[in-house]
Amino acid sequence: MPVMDKEGGMRKVMSGAWVAALWLAWVLPGPALAEQVAQVASPDGRTVVQLDINGEGRLAYRVLRDGKPVINDSRLGFIFRNGRQLLRNLRLDAQQSRSQDDTWEQPWGERRFVRDHYNELRATLVEKDMDHRRFDVVFRVFDDGVGFRYDVPAQPALREAQIVQELTEFAIARPATAWWIPALEWNREEYLYHRTPLAEVGIAQTPLTLRTDDGLHISLHEAALVDYAGMNLLHGENGVLRAMLTPGSPVPVVRPTPFVTPWRTITLGDTAGALVESNLILNLNAPNALGDVSWFTPGKYAGVWWSLHLDLQSWATGGKHGATTANTRKAIDFAARNGLRGVLVEGWNPGWDGDWFANGWGFDYTRSAADFDLAGLAKYAAGKGVHLIGHHETGCAVSHYESQLGAALDLDARNGIDVVKTGYVCDAGQIERQDSPDGPVLREWHEGQWMSNHHLRVVQEAARRHVAIDAHEPIKDTGLRRTYPNWVSREGARGMEYNAWGNPPNPPAHEVTLVFTRMLSGPMDYTPGILSLTGRNGQEIQSTLARQLALYVGIYSPIQMVPDLPEHYAAHPEAFQFIKDVAVDWDESHVLAGAVGEYVAIARKQRGAPVWFLGAMNDEHPRTLSLTLDFLEPGKRYRAEIYRDGDGADWHGAARFRFVHEVKTVARGDQLSLWLAGGGGAAVRLLPLAH
Ligand code: NOJ
Ligand code: CA
Repeated sequence: MPVMDKEGGMRKVMSGAWVAALWLAWVLPGPALAEQVAQVASPDGRTVVQLDINGEGRLAYRVLRDGKPVINDSRLGFIFRNGRQLLRNLRLDAQQSRSQDDTWEQPWGERRFVRDHYNELRATLVEKDMDHRRFDVVFRVFDDGVGFRYDVPAQPALREAQIVQELTEFAIARPATAWWIPALEWNREEYLYHRTPLAEVGIAQTPLTLRTDDGLHISLHEAALVDYAGMNLLHGENGVLRAMLTPGSPVPVVRPTPFVTPWRTITLGDTAGALVESNLILNLNAPNALGDVSWFTPGKYAGVWWSLHLDLQSWATGGKHGATTANTRKAIDFAARNGLRGVLVEGWNPGWDGDWFANGWGFDYTRSAADFDLAGLAKYAAGKGVHLIGHHETGCAVSHYESQLGAALDLDARNGIDVVKTGYVCDAGQIERQDSPDGPVLREWHEGQWMSNHHLRVVQEAARRHVAIDAHEPIKDTGLRRTYPNWVSREGARGMEYNAWGNPPNPPAHEVTLVFTRMLSGPMDYTPGILSLTGRNGQEIQSTLARQLALYVGIYSPIQMVPDLPEHYAAHPEAFQFIKDVAVDWDESHVLAGAVGEYVAIARKQRGAPVWFLGAMNDEHPRTLSLTLDFLEPGKRYRAEIYRDGDGADWHGAARFRFVHEVKTVARGDQLSLWLAGGGGAAVRLLPLAH
């Protein structure tokens, strides 16, 4: 038995009984005697997944990179409500391997072509006794990480799976720092990120980012969240993160067999930037199910929005109503003058008067407010090449919204509205679901199975009418834009709106953390470009002017808002020029430099044009980045239009506005040295010169 010695250390005293127990454990198969039953490696051979079954018949996987453990033995299985747990007494019945190396094209995105290159292992497990239930675990190992999913066939002993918990674990093998936001808290996904040792993670949402003490970057997330509950991660002991499914009624997930779970993903990168450049999540989603989606056009949009968040105007009707015909005409004029494709108008429909947070059942998505002439404005916009962007705030009365969904989208399509922003404002767990008109109203979670299906219902109904969706307070992104390319953007993090009224506003480290956390899941409708650098009641935005421009390159979305008031853009014409010029759709994207939560520099090539844009953003510590322009085309010279922090710029007070616009000639291989202020940034447009 273990006893404490004088120095406080542990000493083992072997009694006769102990010796006998140890001997028995050695001669009898026990939990410690795990046997490796299968293995699969990435195409470059650096990443290896091994499957074990131990003496209790428990299945585990582990991941090694360059021969060193990244994930130690981590168990797999399920707890069911309507049956025994599926965990022990398993044997490997079969294993199959295959490989794929394909390249597919994105209709829009951070890059046009995506290589999908992996080795796959499908392991078929069966219970040795009792019900002989079976399931497969499918591993795909890429050079940039691992995805695995359960594939549960139809079988007499498991006709329906009522899943209380998935027993999936991620036993992180090395000490690490974690960047994470809490799961199952009232404010959904809108938190500042914690940076803590892995051991201090509580219940975290995914993507969760880790940097091991020896410099490996890891992102844990999921891909293809379809008809299933979102996965959160609960830290247990010794670096073990356990899947914790978002609640549902009566259990997180109910699925008849056969079914597949979402892919559980472990993205690996030698640098922080490698996580951003990874296509693993998209590769694990099914190909485009919509066919030709050229009816969606990426673009920038203005709107009646920031004035609402500043409380200068209101969503509610009355004297301060923002969405009036007159105000919307002005927004359309502003968009047309500045080459912006869209105009978002919030508060256009009945339901905003009074406490709409508490009563989403009052929203009508098929009629306009009395002072908003939808058809007239749509016509006015069309005459100027502008499209209205629809807005469906549900206040979480989601069944009520669904009852009008078809008619609402018909109205949009009739009026040339081809992008709709949806919204689900309520506390977490307060989504209202009513399955029949007189039935009870049940509460669901934003990240639960019912909402995973709701969002796909909306996206599919919208696609039928050639409408794209941008969901706020959404379910997290798991790469479904590959399958449904009209799901173009979403919020799902603390966006610019917190700089209007948030306490605190977003600190400088927030956006350079988002790039390496939330943004690994997909595009975000962050709404950059507040050149007044000022929120409600004069609250300072913790950013320099140049950084607001860099956000357009740094925080990817195929629709980007130009949200500030026209008079604020008029006050900063030089900076505004970059916002007018910047592209929103890309052929290529490269991370030139970055450290999670500290700084990042990204270069992107405009889709279908030889023009590059570069965005760099910084936390609160001033620094100089020396960037190698090795992405430019060889033999060409480029005009670099540089928008950067001026001398003495800083994220406080008047220094926020210190700004330099300069032009240089550069070529491939040149070093570009950019000084970034605390809370600062830089934005560059690079145009090829004729000679
Ligand atoms: C929260 C959204 O994030 C914001 O963009 C919108 O203006 C309000 N809800 C109202 O729908
Ligand atoms: Ca929001």
